[in-house]
Parts: sequence; C-alpha cells; structure tokens
Amino acid sequence: MQVGIDKMSFFSTDYYIDMVELAKARQAEPDKYLIGIGQTEQAVVPATQDIVTMGANAADQMLTAADRQAIEEVIVATESGVDQSKSAAVYLQRLLGINRYARTIEMKQACYSGTYALMQARDYVTLHPEAKVLVVASDIARYGIATGGEVTQGAGAVAMLVTANPKIAVINQDNVFMSDEIMDFWRPNYSTTAVVDGKFSANVYRDFFKEVWERYQEKNHQTLADFHALVFHLPYTKMGLKALRDVLPEADEDKQAQLMEAFEASRVYNKRIGNLYTGSAYLSLMSLLENDPTLQAGDKLGLFSYGSGAEGEMFSMTLQANYQDGLVANQFADLFNRRQKVSISEYEQMFNDLLFGSEDRELDTSADVAKFVLAGLKDQKRQYIER
Ligand code: COA
Repeated sequence: MQVGIDKMSFFSTDYYIDMVELAKARQAEPDKYLIGIGQTEQAVVPATQDIVTMGANAADQMLTAADRQAIEEVIVATESGVDQSKSAAVYLQRLLGINRYARTIEMKQACYSGTYALMQARDYVTLHPEAKVLVVASDIARYGIATGGEVTQGAGAVAMLVTANPKIAVINQDNVFMSDEIMDFWRPNYSTTAVVDGKFSANVYRDFFKEVWERYQEKNHQTLADFHALVFHLPYTKMGLKALRDVLPEADEDKQAQLMEAFEASRVYNKRIGNLYTGSAYLSLMSLLENDPTLQAGDKLGLFSYGSGAEGEMFSMTLQANYQDGLVANQFADLFNRRQKVSISEYEQMFNDLLFGSEDRELDTSADVAKFVLAGLKDQKRQYIER
C-alpha cells in the first residue's frame, strides 16, 4: 500500500514589503537582497493573524466534510507557538470542525519539525490505511527590525493531508537523517525574535546536506540522475541554491541544467513570501508542482529538510499522475493579486503590533478578509473567530 500527500494548501497574509524598498531603507544594495539573498518580497503579518489562524486558513481551503470526519491526527509543526502548554492543533481541531476522536499535538525542532510531522503521519496511515492525518506547518519568521536576518523574514502556513493512495505524491520509505547539538539559531522563551549566527547556520546547513545526501545515496543506491528535482528547505532562496551547487557537479551537463530549471521553479513562491520556517520546504514543493511544466507522473522528487539546532533529513517522493487535483486551484494567483504592499514604516509598526503581551486587548478585524482571525486577548485567552 502506498501512502503520501493527498492534498496541499497554503495561506499567507494580505500584506507584503518589497525587498528593493527594504534594501534602500537599510542602506543595502538592492541586488544583495534580490540576488545575493534571493528574495524579492516578504509577507508581513497583521496582529489579527498568528500561527493558529494561518494554519486554519490554509487547511480549511482543502478539507471536505468527509475529510474532517476521517482525520485521526492533527499535527502542527511550528517554532512560533502561541502557548507553552496548549497545542495549536487542538485550536485547529475546533476551528476546522474536525471530529473529536482525533489526536492533537504540536511539534518543535526549529524548521525541521514539519518533516517529522509528515513522517509520523505517513507511518500512522501505513498502519491504519483508512485514516487521514492533517499536518500543518505554520510559522512567523522574526529576526527583528534592521537585523542581519531581517531580509529573511516571512510568514505563512502549509497544510497537508496524508492518506493512502494519495493524489499528489507517495512518500518513499528511504529517509536518512542526522542530528547534532549546535548553536546556530535558537529562540529563548524570553524573546519574540530569533537569535542567529547567520553565516554559521548557512554553513551547518550545507554540511548537513552534504553528509545526509552522501548517506542517502549509499543507503538507497541512488544518484542525482535518479531525481527530477531536489527540493530544499529555503530560509532564503539563495540557501538552497548554494546547497544544490555543492552537489551539481556529480551529474552530467544535461542533468545539471534540468535540476537547475526545477530549482528555479521550486523557489518562485518562496522568493515572494519569504521564510516560513517549518513550512518553507513544503512551500517550495508547492512552487515546484505549480511552476515546473516538465513534471511527469513517476518523477522522483528529493526533499532536504533542515532545522537549526540542528537536524537534517532527506527523503524522496514519487509524483502521482493527477497531482494537480490535490492542489487548490488558483490559490497562489489569488493571494498575489489580493495582497497589498505596505511601506517599510508601516511594516515596522505591524512588526511591533503583534499580540505578545498579557494585557486584555481587542483587535480590529475589519481589515482582515481571512475566514479565521485573532480578535484579541480576553482573560488571558486568545480569541479566535470564524467569519
Ligand atoms: N549583488 C549581488 N550579490 C551580492 C551583492 C550585490 N550587490 N552584495 C552582496 N551580495 C551577496 C554576497 O556575496 C553574499 O553571497 P554568498 O552568500 O553567496 O557569499 C550574499 O549576498 C549575502 O551577503 P552577506 O554579506 O553574506 O550578507 P549578510 O552578512 O547580511 O548575511 C545572512 C546574510 C543570510 C547570513 C543573514 O541574512 C542571516 O543571518 N539570515 C538568517 C540566516 C538563516 O536563515 N539561518 C537559518 C538557516 S536554516
């Protein structure tokens, strides 16, 4: 029996900034941001969205009533959790109308935990073929205003439904993974922004990729020639490019050109949304699925997941014939048409306006057109509403 990703859906906010404008405001060369980092736009989060609402808004677009009855686990992967105790998944269960006989859990290991959640889902469905598992990777990447990492911020959520006989891709049982305790990026409980040793983290990412890729090839007797595409965790899109370039010489010229084309397709959306930590590799997968016209049923797609701290994992998927049927039609076109550009000073205000405090607060939700919004904090309880 084959198990994998049956449906995928994405949500990001209705606001963004232009990286040329950010570069100018920070006295940087625009090409550093556009080419050196590989980002053109960045999602900006209003106070009325958080990882719970973004996750609900992503998943709701793809779930049928039958799915909501059949889901046996809801797993949220995030490093922007809104509570140290209660999982975002149990909020999602209620907001999405998922049946009460589902497990709900939240997972954490920097940007990696979406991949663990996906593997837990695959393994559960392999044991229980009638079950469906909802995996949601939702994050707000926050480094701080005028910091080195600011150009690599972003936000959004990817929702994936894992089932037997999936529409999009079968997840193969070929995973290779490694962990090593490293201080390249972390976020202590007292901070709303990440602490990062940026260049070190990029080097650790590359080292992990090379080591995991070598082990993957040895274990599975595969080479680059077996893959249509390698999909990467993209904290910023140049990161994946660096990793891909590290291994490209292993392939012949034609294969190198084809893998580069696939890589370009896989970063179209990430360039415009920015980093979404746990969801970044899966946004990149969606970007590949929607922007690579040469994809064919049976193509093998490799995915490299990395989470600082640090953990890396490589696995492959086999593309299914009607993979487009598992995506929500026009979802990205609609988002990019709908969202509004804000100025750098407006973004700075919004950055400082998110709901982190303990004081009661009522938020004006009238400007937010999303179905699920955060309406404020009352008696220490976050007020999630559906419109
Ligand atoms: N035109 C084109 N490229 C330019 C340029 C220009 N005018 N000016 C600079 N660049 C290039 C640099 O050569 C460099 O390329 P390279 O990485 O291939 O060497 C790139 O732009 C970045 O420049 P750099 O001076 O290294 O930038 P920085 O000191 O501001 O740091 C990061 C960049 C990515 C380290 C920083 O943004 C960061 O810390 N981000 C968060 C890190 C992160 O996401 N870590 C998690 C990994 S999982």
